[in-house]
Amino acid sequence: MKIEILSSPEEIGIKLARKLYRRIMLQPKLVVGLATGSTPLPFYSALVSLVSKKPLDLSRITTFNLDEYYPIGRSNCNSYYFFMNKYLFKLLKLNDTQVNLLSGEAKDYHTECKNYEGRIKVVGGIDWQLLGIGVNGHIGFNEPGSEFNSLTRRVRLSGSTIEMNRRFFSNDKIPFYALTMGLKTILSAKDIHLIATGENKSRIVRKLILTKPSKKLPASILKLHHNVTIWLDNASAKLLEVN
Ligand code: F6R
Repeated sequence: MKIEILSSPEEIGIKLARKLYRRIMLQPKLVVGLATGSTPLPFYSALVSLVSKKPLDLSRITTFNLDEYYPIGRSNCNSYYFFMNKYLFKLLKLNDTQVNLLSGEAKDYHTECKNYEGRIKVVGGIDWQLLGIGVNGHIGFNEPGSEFNSLTRRVRLSGSTIEMNRRFFSNDKIPFYALTMGLKTILSAKDIHLIATGENKSRIVRKLILTKPSKKLPASILKLHHNVTIWLDNASAKLLEVN
């Protein structure tokens, strides 16, 4: 794993947005895996601002989001569908046909998850995957204990994830379940970028760097991949020896 430590989330956002911009210039049909939550926001805003200054043809990229609460309506302002449209898709004018999100409205979640895996295969897999990390080490919604060979499926959210994410659900009840790409699905991406920012991620970042791959810390599976970059700010890197 390559580690990049920059001074702030904004600096990470700008550097990573430039990287993705260049990749799309070279590979206009890039398949991009995306994440939600507070971590990617500076990156999304840097990407939107870059594209507005230096227009880029995004009409041939395809995107796949990591996860979605289940069940949840797409018009619910807490759904990841709503989030992605608000912070990225509408601003980049991406078409509905080029973006893929697991549906929190699907009646049959088995078929929904199976079809999602199928859609990723049809486009030749994910070229460039963005990840955040939960304070318990989850990536996507692969909570501790998730199998390394897991595929897209419905999962029960852990107590700590529900507590962490409850803040977004002002009046609504947070769902106890989610649909998520599996660890195997994530690991099949060709180029992976995990962002962890803020002091509250410093403990899990230290653990991730120091421990061997283990189901107890789902993000540790990334150590088995040959092309992963971990992007840290000073606050999340504060417990590492390098500082
Ligand atoms: C969201 C996702 C999650 C988040 C993680 C961190 O699509 O996959 O793994 O990346 O829960 O969330 P934030 O960024 O809100 O700290």
